[in-house]
Amino acid sequence: MFSHKTLEKNIGWLMVLSFIVVSIGGLVQIVPLFFQKSTTEPVPGLKPYNALELAGRDIYIREGCYTCHSQMVRPFRAETERYGHFSVAGEFVYDRPFQWGSKRTGPDLHRVGGRYSDQWHYVHLMQPRDVVPESNMPAYPWLAERMVSETTGKDIVKKMTVLKNWAGHPYTDQEIAEAPAMLEGKTEMEALIAYLQVLGTAGPKLQ
Ligand code: HEC
Repeated sequence: MFSHKTLEKNIGWLMVLSFIVVSIGGLVQIVPLFFQKSTTEPVPGLKPYNALELAGRDIYIREGCYTCHSQMVRPFRAETERYGHFSVAGEFVYDRPFQWGSKRTGPDLHRVGGRYSDQWHYVHLMQPRDVVPESNMPAYPWLAERMVSETTGKDIVKKMTVLKNWAGHPYTDQEIAEAPAMLEGKTEMEALIAYLQVLGTAGPKLQ
């Protein structure tokens, strides 16, 4: 009954059996990753985002930077020569959700931390064409006017507490208590730049 021909002609059976095959494939590939140390343990030196970086990360998401920028250097020579060491899983354990992205209108940003000065980022985000004349990246001047403590950072204590209690990010009580003070007087621009400057910095380096 189950010759290949019968299967191909019977859409019901084809669907059921395809589903079973794909499920087994998925289980075999995905489940071990949950138990493999190299994918679940942070790389040495990786710290969870501090309050300012965390607020900056929320701005990155709010502004849709991920629609043009990936954060995932692939293990190909053309990529490692341009961006640095390829990304490894242990660098993303404090990224919930991760910002790997799938579209590169602009360059990958996973290793952008430390590549430019804070001042460069400021000028670039105010008006990308002031530093890269051919850029088609939008300008984000409002970030310099809005205080992060009044926008994405206003519930920072709650956010960090949830990340600590539900996702196991190792924040100390003191770090959480001091979070609002860290955001005080900072603009959204400063928070976003703090986030960009830490990206990929704990990862492995090219020899
Ligand atoms: C419409 C697509 C687009 C969006 C949205 C966008 N960018 Fe860009 N970005 C680019 C392009 C194209 C470049 C390359 C030219 C340049 O440097 O301006 C770039 C370059 C950059 C660079 C320099 C990277 C390097 O290695 O030289 C940074 C940093 C950056 N973008 C951050 C951001 C941030 C933060 C946001 C969100 C606030 C953002 N971008 C939103 C398209 C975009």
